[in-house]
Order: sequence, then C-alpha cells, then structure tokens
Amino acid sequence: MSHIVREQAAREDALVERVRASFAATPDPRLKHLLEELTTSLHDYIRRVRLTESEWARVIDFLTRTGHITTETRQEFVLLSDVLGISMQTVIVGNPAEGDATEPTVFGPFFLNDSPRIDLGGDLSGGAAGEPAWVEGTVTDTHGVPIPGARIEVWEADEEGLYDVQHDEYAVYGRAHMFADERGAYRFWGLFPTPYPIPDDGPVGDLLTATGRSPYRAAHLHFMVTAPGYRTLVTHIFVRGDVLLESDSVFGVQDSLIYDWIHHSAGAPTPDGRDLGGAPWASTRFDIVLAVGEATDYADLMRQEP
Ligand code: BEZ
Ligand code: FE
Repeated sequence: MSHIVREQAAREDALVERVRASFAATPDPRLKHLLEELTTSLHDYIRRVRLTESEWARVIDFLTRTGHITTETRQEFVLLSDVLGISMQTVIVGNPAEGDATEPTVFGPFFLNDSPRIDLGGDLSGGAAGEPAWVEGTVTDTHGVPIPGARIEVWEADEEGLYDVQHDEYAVYGRAHMFADERGAYRFWGLFPTPYPIPDDGPVGDLLTATGRSPYRAAHLHFMVTAPGYRTLVTHIFVRGDVLLESDSVFGVQDSLIYDWIHHSAGAPTPDGRDLGGAPWASTRFDIVLAVGEATDYADLMRQEP
C-alpha cells in the first residue's frame, strides 16, 4: 500500500473513531451502543461505495421529500422501511424462531383498534365485494395444546385491493375480531384475498420505478393473534400459486405462510350450511401456533405522533 493510500485510509478511520467517541458519554447504554454501531455501519457503507457528495445530496433531497409527504395518515418513512426490507428484518430479529410457532410478518398501515366483534363462523366482509372465503383452524401452543379464548384479529382489502380506511367515505368492512372456542378452534367468512399496490405516488414510488420494482403486494389476509402468556403474533396468509409471491414489494412472504386455497363451484354446499345465493366460494385452513412470550401492543408501537 502506498503512503498516500495509507494516509487516506488513516484519515477515514480517524473520523469513524472520532464520531464513535462523541457518543462515549451517552448515559443510556443501549442508545450509546446503537449510535456507535450505526456510525460504524454507515461510514463503512460510504467508504465501500465511495459515496460522492452529489449522491449524498440526492439522498438528502429524497429524505426531505419523504418527510414532506408524511402526514398523520400517510407514513412514507414506514413505507420506505418496508420496501427496503427493514420492517421485515426487524420483525424476524424481534421474533426468534421457536419450535413450529407460526412465522410473523409485517404489520402494515391498515390495522385499526376497535374492529367489530364477530361470533365464530361470522362474516367479516361487512358487505364488501369479493369472493366469499371460509377460513378455519386452531390456535395452539408449540406443544399442540389448544389456547381457548385466543383473540384473533383479521383485516383485509376488498376485491379492488382497497382497505376500508382508504375510502373518503369511511364505512367499516373487511375487519373483525373473534375468540377461539374451548378447543382453540376458530372459523369465519371473509373474502378471498386480492393483490394490491402499496401507495406509489410519492418518493417511495419513485424509488420503485427507478429500480424497476413493482409496488404490488402478494394477495394476503392479515392476522393478529393474542393470548395471555404468549408472544403477540402478527402475520398474514398468502395464496399458493399467486404470481406475486416472489416479488412482494415489502418482502412479507415466508414459505410457511403460503397456503392452499380450494375454489368451490357455484352452489357447492358450504361448511356451515350458509346459502351464498349460488355464488362460488373459496376456503383454506390456517392452524396458528403461538410461542410463549410477551404481548406487544403493535397498534401503539406503529402509532405515529401527530
Ligand atoms: C399491507 O399489507 O397492508 C401493507 C404492508 C406494508 C406497506 C403497505 C401495506
Ligand atoms: Fe395488507
């Protein structure tokens, strides 16, 4: 290594050390660790890619636009975290694998507290358009022991790929909660899930366009399952055969969450004898396994401060 190359590397190393040292007096040890390691990782990135000043100016401009478009109801930074796989990576890191516990995935922006309660076998579609879908399963622990009374929240988009909250004239549909019975079993009518794009009319959409990526999410049904003494499970189920499984824009698909759905012809008898007026319907089975652990209030965690 020539003298000049060594001198350059020494200057770069020295700066990293100075910035790390600036956090030495941080009273909170976790915050100190996070900032020191962030410094090392970010500086390493800048040095490896030899980031130019004009490239960094463009990054600042991008982040500024991301801030400007963010409002109480639109969180572009979370969307950015989603399309970079950061949201999904924090989910994976934060929920270590345990036995055959159901894998978690991203929470997304469309959960609402206070969804309607339905009885087991009830319909959560709220009259929204779509193919009726019967979903049933059990909630157990990792030893197969049923968890009676587990709370199961479900939310989904309509046939057009829109959640109820995305309409100007808001009426609740496509969401509900229910409680597992004494054998840990649950069942409900919903809608066969439809693919839809994440909001792509802002800087995150520009990023997707610039990189030739699609804003579409693979079709899915959201679940949040809670029971005292168990780790809160936030997950989705996907549809085997969906062509978007490989390119989900927020990296939410896990192999174990892809389910077989059966399509029943018009007029085929339904599991609960419900008369669908001769419409075709779909069904799947999703057995949910909870890991022992702590509850997390995801709605609170994701709430943005106005
Ligand atoms: C969703 O599944 O609802 C979602 C997740 C991440 C970003 C946007 C939407
Ligand atoms: Fe969704």
